[in-house]
Parts: sequence; C-alpha cells; structure tokens
Amino acid sequence: MLVKALLSERIEAAFARLGLDGQALVQNAARPEFGDYQANGVMAAAKRAGRNPREVAAEVLDALDLDGVASNVEIAGPGFLNITVDPTFLADASAGAVDPSLPRQTVVVDYSAPNLAKEMHVGHLRSTIIGDCLVRVLEAQGHHVIRQNHVGDWGTQFGMLLTYLDETGDDSDDLADLENFYRAAKQRFDADDDFKTRSREAVVGLQGGDPDAFATWQRFIDISMSHCQDIYDRLGVTLKTEHIYGESAYNDALPGIISQLDEAGLLEESEGAQCVFLDEFKSKKGDVLPVIVQKSDGGYLYTTTDLAAIQYRTGKLKADRVVIFTDARQTLHFKQVFAVAERAGFIANDAHLEHMPFGAMLGPDGKPFKTREGGVVKLAELLEEAQERATALVKEKNPEIDATLAAELGGRIGIGAIKYADLSKNRTSDYVFDWEQMISFDGNTAPYLQYAYTRIQSVFTRGEVDVAALPDHAIAVDEAERKLAVAIAGFNDTLVAVAAEGQPHLLCGYLFDLAQTFSHFYEACPILASEGEVRTRRLVLARQAGDTLQEGLGLLGIEVVARM
Ligand code: ARG
Repeated sequence: MLVKALLSERIEAAFARLGLDGQALVQNAARPEFGDYQANGVMAAAKRAGRNPREVAAEVLDALDLDGVASNVEIAGPGFLNITVDPTFLADASAGAVDPSLPRQTVVVDYSAPNLAKEMHVGHLRSTIIGDCLVRVLEAQGHHVIRQNHVGDWGTQFGMLLTYLDETGDDSDDLADLENFYRAAKQRFDADDDFKTRSREAVVGLQGGDPDAFATWQRFIDISMSHCQDIYDRLGVTLKTEHIYGESAYNDALPGIISQLDEAGLLEESEGAQCVFLDEFKSKKGDVLPVIVQKSDGGYLYTTTDLAAIQYRTGKLKADRVVIFTDARQTLHFKQVFAVAERAGFIANDAHLEHMPFGAMLGPDGKPFKTREGGVVKLAELLEEAQERATALVKEKNPEIDATLAAELGGRIGIGAIKYADLSKNRTSDYVFDWEQMISFDGNTAPYLQYAYTRIQSVFTRGEVDVAALPDHAIAVDEAERKLAVAIAGFNDTLVAVAAEGQPHLLCGYLFDLAQTFSHFYEACPILASEGEVRTRRLVLARQAGDTLQEGLGLLGIEVVARM
C-alpha cells in the first residue's frame, strides 16, 4: 500500500474542495507525540491564498475524509497536520508486499554498456549497479522492463584492431592480449596517417559485410562479452547475453536517420559534415553549436546511433519510458540527442526520455579512482579484493569457521559492500571509494544491514518460532511497535520515489532507518520474554521487518546471509 501517497491524495482532495492550490507534503512524523505522519503543505497553500495558515488548517481538517485511514488528525504549530493512522489500516499497510496498483509501463533501461575489446573497468561499475537496481525495482512494481546493454561494439576502434592484426599477423583469444593489441593499434593510429586511413577503410569493409573481417570482429565481441558476463555473474547483476543490443545493432538504420533529418528540414552541411543546428545549444561565445550526425568521410557517430535507438525503443519496442545511465560527462550529448529526436519526430508513443547521469568514483585522495601506478582499475581485480577483505573479516569474527563457508560469506558480504557503497550515495554526486567505510559494521553500510537481518532471524531461531505459522497481520500497540509498523509501511512509498528518480540511495536510507527503528523496538519491546498476544504481535512485526529488509536488499541486488 502507498500510505503517504494515499494521505497526500486525500489531503489534496480537501485542498481542492476548498479551492486551495498546493501539495500535502506528507512525511513521517518528526516526533512520536505528533502521531505517525505529518503534512507540511498547509502553510504554503494558505500563503498562496493569502490566508491565515491555522484557519486554513482548521478548514482542511473539516473537509478531510480519512475514514478508515486515520484515527486522529490534529493541527499543530503554525499549521502542520499531525496524523495518527488507524491501527487496522496500519496493520494492513505493514503486512503488504510490493504494491501492484500502479499503472503498468513498458520501460527500456539502458545500462552498463561497456566498450568492448577492453576489459571492464571501474568506469562502468556505477552504471551497471545503479541500472540493475532500477530494473529490479520497476519489475517488482509490475512494469514491463526491457534491459538494453548498449555496448560499444562498433566504430573506428574495431577498424584499428582489425587492421593492426592483419598487418602484424598477431592473434589471440585472450582478452588481455586483445587489450594490448588495441593499445598498440591506437598508438599506430595516432602516429601514422596511412594506418589511420586503412583503419577507417576497415570499418567501411566491416559495414559492407566483408565476411573475414566480420568473423574476426564477431570473435572479439564474443570474447569480450563473455568476460563481461563473468563480471555480471560475480556481481549478481541480472544482465544476460540476450540483453545485449549494442551500437552495431543500429548500423542499418543510420542512413535512414540522416534522410529523415533531411526530410524534416533539419540537416545542414558544415565543413563537409552533416549537422543539426538547434538554437538552444550555444557556445560560451554565443555561436549555435552543431550536433554532428555524419562525418565528412560518410561515417556515422555515437549521436546518430542514439537517435536510431530512440526510434527503435519508442517505436518498435513501444517504450513509455526510456532511462539511460551514463556518467555525467555525457549530459550535453543526451540533451542534444533528445532535442534533435523531438524536433525530428523520432519519439513515438509519447515516451519519456530520461538520461540519468552519475558522478565519478574517486580514490581516497579525492582524485579519479586509479591503481597505484595510475592505470585504470579493472573490475575483476576490484571484486577479488572485496571478497578477500570480507573473508578476512568473517574469519576474524568467527575464528573457528570453515574456510569454504568463510569464502562464501566473504563473497556475499564483499560484493554487497561494494554495491551498497555506491548505491547509498546520491547518484549525481562524485563519491569516494573507501574500503574501510564500506566493509564496516557501523553506519549506513551493507554489512550493517545484513547483520541486522541475521539478528532478526536469530530471534526466531532462539525462540524456536515457526515463522510460517505466524499470522499475517499484527496491530501495533506500544509506541516502539507503532514506529516499527510505520517504518515497514513506508516501503512502497520509497520504491515509488526510487523508480521515479532513479535514485537507489533513497532505498538505502529507508532500509538503514528501518534497521535502526527495529533496534529501538528490540530494546524497548522484549519479544521472546513476552507472552501470548504480545509475543505474537511482536514476532509478526519482527518477521515483517526482516522480510522488508531482505526484499529491499534484494532490490539493491544484495543478498542476505544466515550468519556473519
Ligand atoms: N558505451 C558508452 C560509454 O562507455 C555508454 C553507452 C550508453 N548508452 C547510450 N545509449 N549511449 O560511455
């Protein structure tokens, strides 16, 4: 159930009846004596109407229909509404799983999207993890999600690589070798104009369907993708081979993009290149900037492919919404692509296009995250280190533990820690990658939440409780019980915000708060030492808290553990 959304809707209906304009702004109550929730929106609505906020609050209270939802509503301070929800309503709200009542959308989520022929490095970690959280949340809400891994599998870099191998006779099926060849090819490309021309021609050959070149290219793609798949599997990311829909998938559509732009009267030639000029994109000096869609040599660009992707996703796939995760440096690129697509009528289905940028991953020195030698950090090595560190920690806490079990727990804890550290930060800010912090049991970390979960489970084990036989509902009575029930009931409201904003840190913050609320409840309300109805309702609340933690962590792509 969407509790805050429901309260807001009812309050805003009362506003409408009174001819007021504004949002209800419902939040969890700042203090328990204020009830369970508070609505802060009356003051702004009254101000807009030029009226006394307390008087307006009294009218809202009269006009408000919260039958079956609230047991008490009071006016406080300058015009806050303090709401105590009905105990039965609260019991229903905290017993519910994910709310399926939202309108179902088709959503394309474009995430991860590494550039192939290179090992995956930390630059694609954030896109992979954040994107995977969003698809999980959307799917839990019942949306039809289409994952698209828009891998960089085309373009000059492949021409370079093919030309280099052709001319040196080198070959390998090992990604590390390919990466070295690529580096050498790039050096030649930058230094040698003839090589540059031959590389460009190789791309044209590839495009024209030269079977040998195509077979070699396909082999590189396969080697590279199988490496990515290993990383996805180790990370517990839901991307599979069938989700790959890379740049090369749009090759055949690119000439049509240019001709359609031409028909729409948007195409202009500038220095031999085909461009679209839109007034809203100006340089600092005030000149209108070109959006280049075809180079003077006839080659297409990243932008052209993204225009084709918009047509495909909103037309063929009938997406209502397209969400793309890349680092913030591509913000201008997507603004331009979306604006050109809009102007050219490429957006079908009235779809919403959303670029969701993220900040950089920084090292402890506050500079972009690099190896000690200044190289890019390979993801495979990072995940290895996470598992090692967490396994050591598990062994330190449980000296008697069996080595296999320690490694298994270490994997879940280490990977969970890396993911959580990333997901718990506001997506748009840069964040500092810090091993000590992420693997700590204190604070807003994955190990803290995984530990909170094991603590709840240990209540059931110690009490020899048959969890499946507990009732679904529990009516919270004591203050700490109510607070816990309200916290549990907030799950669906949180998911709505995560889905809309693509901000997993809202879910992390929610779960952290839930775990802390459970701790207070656990201290204030003895569970196993109580009896009868009291014991049962506390056990039910504990089970609901545990289920919500597990489900919430699951939506972040993090597994719970049975012990730590
Ligand atoms: N391969 C690109 C990169 O590494 C990301 C692609 C994102 N998706 C897109 N439709 N452009 O930066």
